[in-house]
Amino acid sequence: MAASLLVLNGPNLNLLGTREPNTYGTASLDAIETELDDTFPDVSFTFDQRNGEGLLIDRLHTAHEQGLDGVVFNPGGYTHTSVALRDAVAAIDPPVIEVHLSNVHAREDFRRTSRIAPACVGQISGLGPTGYFLAVRYFLDNRDA
Ligand code: DQA
Repeated sequence: MAASLLVLNGPNLNLLGTREPNTYGTASLDAIETELDDTFPDVSFTFDQRNGEGLLIDRLHTAHEQGLDGVVFNPGGYTHTSVALRDAVAAIDPPVIEVHLSNVHAREDFRRTSRIAPACVGQISGLGPTGYFLAVRYFLDNRDA
């Protein structure tokens, strides 16, 4: 098995495909997850989406307990507000990459700041669903990083 990865999506991302398609595209979260599975058959993926902050924190803790190799994380709106999620990312061993479908730096001012990115390996923003695939690629290329 190449790697065990969690792809974790935060609030409102269950609505992908119908939610503000001009900003977030028309692909559903289910379609993105299926394509990740198809593209990386050797990766053991866990996919999860939660709307609540505490549930996302619990999921990150579980990723740590399971000894996963990495987390691809789109924290949605919590990106810009959540000290608790940043602390959870900093607390766990699996490296985390923050992914955003939209370019958060080209939108409202409040989206330019991520409370979580400083605790992550890096941030991918504005590349649509491709961002998730690039994050997985990073983990495969840097298993021991
Ligand atoms: C988002 C960007 C956030 O600012 C926003 O609150 C989201 C989606 C993105 O993927 O572009 O919910 O994380």
